[in-house]
Amino acid sequence: MTEKELIKKATQARSKAHAPYSKFLVGAALLTEKGKVYTGVNVENASYGLTVCAERVAVFNAVTDGEKKLKKIVIVTDTDQPKSLCGACLQVLSEFCADLEIVCATLKGKKNKYRLRELLPKAFKRMSKD
Ligand code: THU
Repeated sequence: MTEKELIKKATQARSKAHAPYSKFLVGAALLTEKGKVYTGVNVENASYGLTVCAERVAVFNAVTDGEKKLKKIVIVTDTDQPKSLCGACLQVLSEFCADLEIVCATLKGKKNKYRLRELLPKAFKRMSKD
């Protein structure tokens, strides 16, 4: 699965976003270590705080299918510059991959690439007694 193909999948998914309140459509495509791809879109709600971002929907789709080893995520927005991910999504992604590859892309083809550790260097990790 090439990056171009992932961007295409995220772009196609984006058109299904449910964003009647913000009108800000986001599409995500998540690649697992096994080479499977799961997409996600932002799903807004009349009770605004219940909105779920595209990235988390993609993660939940992957985990629902038993895929917990994540490799790369692409998000696509219709903005002049690529948009980064929100902190909540970075934290959720960190549960399944310490240093995920992240590509933030625009519909017009601009791209920024990061690693999860750069964007969330101090992710909360599950509690342990050691
Ligand atoms: N949103 C995402 O889907 N991903 C992000 O990383 C940031 C924001 C969504 C949530 C909401 O539906 C809209 O974008 C505006 O914040």
